Amino acid sequence: MGILDHHKKIETHATLLLVLSFLVVTIGGLVQIVPLFYLENTIEEVEGMRPYSPLELAGREIYVREGCYVCHSQMVRPMRDEVERYGHYSLAAESMYDHPFQWGSKRTGPDLARLGGRYSDEWHVAHLINPRDVVPESVMPPYAYLLDRPITGEYIQDLMSTYRMVGVPYTDEMIEAAPEDFAVQVDPFGDTDGLLERYHSAQVRNFDGQEELTEMDALIAYMQMIGTLVDFSTFEAEASR
Ligand code: HEC
Repeated sequence: MGILDHHKKIETHATLLLVLSFLVVTIGGLVQIVPLFYLENTIEEVEGMRPYSPLELAGREIYVREGCYVCHSQMVRPMRDEVERYGHYSLAAESMYDHPFQWGSKRTGPDLARLGGRYSDEWHVAHLINPRDVVPESVMPPYAYLLDRPITGEYIQDLMSTYRMVGVPYTDEMIEAAPEDFAVQVDPFGDTDGLLERYHSAQVRNFDGQEELTEMDALIAYMQMIGTLVDFSTFEAEASR
């Protein structure tokens, strides 16, 4: 009986109840949150992940600018229907260099987290010029003007420095070489050794088929590498090791 009497004091005293509830929530919060500050990394490290190459990064900026995330998610959930449709479920590490991440919350169109390599560059160009030409029932808007918008590496160093501020590990060397890396990624006859050393498996070719380097090139360079960095034939989740 004794202890219940004490509890009655708390139940009938609003201020005491409030103070003690606050104490309980504080302790509970600390127990959950403090360990996170002492963990080196809350994202499981995964082989293959690297920061975006300058051209891919520029393409990603266009993706964000055009609001593609309004209709497309970039996260395959670990459920059977999704994995069968799109491929291996997304890992936290796969968006570790995304600021902001592009997980999205709406799928008017399909998820794009495993888009890289699914279609040819020509398909992407035709689809972006007019989606209805390749998918008659599509409700996606056309983005043909990207073909007419030349793009240079003029601002790419500023952009990469900004990403570095929020934690993307771009080195001085990467930023130094960025304008050349930017241009050489669409030039199959250029000297791409440096680019490939800095950004393994970067795809080098003329993405939009036009002479000029345009926003279309950058966007397709980005789309063709989405979800391709991790080799899922050898990947094993830490938890199942
Ligand atoms: C109004 C919604 C909407 C917006 C905005 C939109 N899309 Fe789509 N997208 C769709 C729909 C619907 C489909 C499915 C039909 C089709 O393939 O066109 C689609 C399909 C796609 C596909 C083919 C995916 C696959 O696996 O078959 C790609 C690639 C794509 N969109 C890229 C983009 C990009 C890049 C942007 C931004 C420049 C964009 N979309 C903006 C609605 C949208």
